[in-house]
Amino acid sequence: MQMKEIASLVHTTPRTIRFYEEKGLISPYKSANHYRQFDEGHVEKLRVILALREVGMSTSQIRETLEDQHAIDHHLNRQRSVLYSEWLEMKDMITTIDEMVKSCDKASHSLYEKASILKDLKKKRKRWHDRWNFDSQADSYDRDLKTEGYGFNIHAHYEEVLAEAVRLIDAGMGEVGADIGIGTGNLGSQFLSKGVSVIGVDQSNEMLQKCSEKFPSIDVRNGHFLALPLMDQSVDFITTSYALHHVEEEEKQLAVEEMDRVLAHRGRIVIADLMFENEADRKRVLEKLASEGNLEAVRAIEDEWYANRSQLIHALEQLGYIVSVHQYSDILHLVYAEKE
Ligand SMILES: C[S@@+](CC[C@H](N)C(=O)[O-])C[C@H]1O[C@@H](n2cnc3c(N)ncnc32)[C@H](O)[C@@H]1O
Repeated sequence: MQMKEIASLVHTTPRTIRFYEEKGLISPYKSANHYRQFDEGHVEKLRVILALREVGMSTSQIRETLEDQHAIDHHLNRQRSVLYSEWLEMKDMITTIDEMVKSCDKASHSLYEKASILKDLKKKRKRWHDRWNFDSQADSYDRDLKTEGYGFNIHAHYEEVLAEAVRLIDAGMGEVGADIGIGTGNLGSQFLSKGVSVIGVDQSNEMLQKCSEKFPSIDVRNGHFLALPLMDQSVDFITTSYALHHVEEEEKQLAVEEMDRVLAHRGRIVIADLMFENEADRKRVLEKLASEGNLEAVRAIEDEWYANRSQLIHALEQLGYIVSVHQYSDILHLVYAEKE
């Protein structure tokens, strides 16, 4: 078929098709008289290109997707995460404009102050990056869990704390739950047999891939604590295990606010993680480890951001949650929060 025919078939213009040709996304045959000729394969490809453009992918992202079409879910997932981040940034900007409009004080310093808060928020949402290369850990993660590390084992009580998380959430049939930093799915998957729809959020595509292989019914989403790829009030509960300590202490409040944003009425949260009761407790444990000569453990703790539990509780209470805590060892705690 010729240009006009294919353009009308896929509801686009010849100009658009020529643009994709220039970008190397589609290569029509050329007839003897140099007219472009298309076949069914071109129609299929154009439909994919147009669909991916419609959801905001750039031509270079589309090229990558076309080259690796069996990984289309991966590319869509990545694009969804980008769109969620952009959407949240827009929401933050609109909220700031609302505040500027509502405020009686339009003095330059007051506007500037509000804009600075917004700037800081944008920066926080964007700056997180994976310093630990979780992609490279995905294959061995489940095996490594069983290997003892350091003088104390960070995965001691692992099964126990996950089981307690499931018990406390007490999920009901038909609920939707999100497990953030789901990794290979060891916690999130435990809700599947209860008739729950589980969404697994993780910043590592390899972890998500592993999770999907093990539990195909989990809806895996690329995203991170500070810009969750979830709509407002769209989940009944949130769990997260061994993940929040990869977020800096000063950003944990934003992580909690994000959880609150996506939780529906009477939502529940379980945070099972490495943390200390407070700053004094952190000091005590680090001194104890140092006096035992366990410098490897000290270095490991200092490389991450074990939460200050009392600050975490305070952030949750400020948002109207009733909080209870369970402690398993010097470093392993579970925080359960339920909205009043
Ligand atoms: C130690 S693994 C824990 C996995 C699983 N929750 C478990 O209990 O076995 C940490 C996981 O959190 C993810 N993660 C770390 N920081 C994150 C962040 N800021 N946002 C989303 N996921 C994160 C990592 O990619 C990794 O899959």
